[in-house]
Amino acid sequence: MKGILLAGGSGTRLHPMTLAASKQLLPVYDKPMVYYPLSTLMLAGIRDILVITTPADQESFVRLLGDGSRLGISISYAVQPKPEGIAQAFLIGRRFLAGSPCTLALGDNLVHGEGMGGLLAQAARRERGATVFAYQVRDPERYGVVWFDHEGRATDLREKPANPTSNWAVIGLYVYDGEVCDIAASIAPSPRGELEITDVNRIYLSRNELAVERLGRGYAWLDAGTPASLLAAATFVHTLQERQGLMIGCPEEVAFRMGFINAEVLAREAASLGSTELGAYLARIAREG
Ligand code: G1P
Repeated sequence: MKGILLAGGSGTRLHPMTLAASKQLLPVYDKPMVYYPLSTLMLAGIRDILVITTPADQESFVRLLGDGSRLGISISYAVQPKPEGIAQAFLIGRRFLAGSPCTLALGDNLVHGEGMGGLLAQAARRERGATVFAYQVRDPERYGVVWFDHEGRATDLREKPANPTSNWAVIGLYVYDGEVCDIAASIAPSPRGELEITDVNRIYLSRNELAVERLGRGYAWLDAGTPASLLAAATFVHTLQERQGLMIGCPEEVAFRMGFINAEVLAREAASLGSTELGAYLARIAREG
């Protein structure tokens, strides 16, 4: 299983913050936004990741993440010249994937909850088809929406429907089989001019090959695409970290816990963070295991 982290887009809803900086590099409390979905991919055991950015922002992502070796993973880069849709990631990433199954994470989505890594691993074990995750929200019209029948089977999917009768939004984390690049190549742009990931998922649904996992109330799914949701995400991370003393969205910690790096490498990472709280936290984990 390979991973794609999509961090393109112009972040217009966050202007002027995103006029000179990539949305996915803005801080969510104490870490760059992209750390959260990166950690999610790593928790799924994925070690080969393509990061797709705008041409202008690629350099900043490389400066932050490098080739991934310090995290015991491999990170490569590609650009999305214009924000022409999430499904375009599979046209851009076709060579990288080379027919391999793929988990796609959106760079502005934060998913938190015990068991998420397990759910992703379970999805990865499905040989055919796709898996998406649904989450109840108060404002489903902002998202891709999924409908279920009485037996809990997905019956329909729509992108930003005007008056949805379902409040289940599809989150920005998708697991696909090796067919996804061909499927993405077969769809046409939507009225908003984008290759919609919802159209890709609708094709899997029509083939009876779409699994929709519902995330219950024990999970948190936040996106950080507007000033208010960015603040909400930061507050969430701050509240939980302060309470538990456990960090959310910390790729160095995940790398260590997943066995991608050893305690020695983690200690070095901790030292490179100097006197920050994150540095002290990682140093403690490297000591205590
Ligand atoms: C995109 C997808 C939508 C999904 C959402 C999750 O929306 O098109 O289906 O629910 O991400 O964040 P967009 O960010 O393009 O508005």
